[in-house]
Amino acid sequence: MKGIILHGGYGTRLRPLTYARPKQLLPIANIPMSQYGLISLKNAGITDVAVIIGGDNSQKVKDYYGNGEKFGVNISYVTQDEPKGISHAIGLCESFIGNEKFVVFLGDNILLKEITESVKDFEKSDYDAKILLCEVSNPSQFGIADVDGNGMIKKIMEKPKNPPTNLAVIGIYFLTPVIFGIIKKLKPSWRNELEITDALQMLLESNHKISYDTITKYWKDTGTVDDIIDANKTILENMTPVFEGKKDDGVTINGKIIVGKNSMIKKGVSITGPVLIGDNCVIEGVSKIGPNVSVGNNAHIQNCTIEDSIVMDGVTIDCKITLSKSIVSYNSRITWKGEKSSIIVCEDSKLEL
Ligand code: TTP
Repeated sequence: MKGIILHGGYGTRLRPLTYARPKQLLPIANIPMSQYGLISLKNAGITDVAVIIGGDNSQKVKDYYGNGEKFGVNISYVTQDEPKGISHAIGLCESFIGNEKFVVFLGDNILLKEITESVKDFEKSDYDAKILLCEVSNPSQFGIADVDGNGMIKKIMEKPKNPPTNLAVIGIYFLTPVIFGIIKKLKPSWRNELEITDALQMLLESNHKISYDTITKYWKDTGTVDDIIDANKTILENMTPVFEGKKDDGVTINGKIIVGKNSMIKKGVSITGPVLIGDNCVIEGVSKIGPNVSVGNNAHIQNCTIEDSIVMDGVTIDCKITLSKSIVSYNSRITWKGEKSSIIVCEDSKLEL
């Protein structure tokens, strides 16, 4: 089987973070969110992967993943000229897929469960598609599936007013080349996209069979800052603690922490896990870090409190500030200047002081 990772889209809800890079490269627990999907595919034995890219920053995706060798996979890139929908993106991969079955992974979907069993099951089945469903509390906001109780899908609908179930269709699809014929017949939706839910529903209406598995562990479609903070927390909670740095006496540590090579935690700092600190960081002064915080490599943090947040590589924070549910992007500096603040804020930034 082959794999497709969707790395295009606008990422409008995550501006300004997505001005500099595609949303799927934003780090969750210090690795790009799309890498979780790539790891899942590889763990399921899928090593031929097409990555759909689009937009001004797509070179950054190529720079990071290269030909895939570093990640144990072979990556081909397919360019989508505009984000014309998930089905449109899949349709561009017809020649890459050939006659094989394949798995599509949206690069912004994070799940804790491996997909290996579903891949094996789909590989030996003669169904035309398989989808993964997850119970949600607000089904009117999602693509929803009606099911027959025997593991088969009856109907798929987008954001129904009266949802027949609370089973959301998540962003991992197991497909066969039959889908390409269906995609060619699709019409753009009200938002001018070729929708995956429409393609799946058309597949059902043309007497094809779609099975499903239900995800009971964590799943998140990380479209917003709150989603990313939540996914970061969950991944941190499930990591294995490792301490490869150094710490002074007089550092207080509670809970699960991971500290990378050459990082130094100095006297007076208090850390409450889960917390992940990358390589070559210095944490000092009266700093309180955690819970649910990831700090990238080469960060320097002094005299601040940080909880439920993501701090990326190269950040400097030296300021009596409490950051909560915050994302501080690469190489940013937050320092104390005196009574009058001096700030440079890029467009669409959000400062809640
Ligand atoms: P969305 O989250 O629906 O869209 P988006 O990423 O453009 O974000 P926003 O709504 O904030 O503007 O996309 C789901 C996933 O599919 C995401 O990983 C991006 C990817 N995608 C493509 O690769 N091509 C497309 O044409 C679309 C619509 C999405």
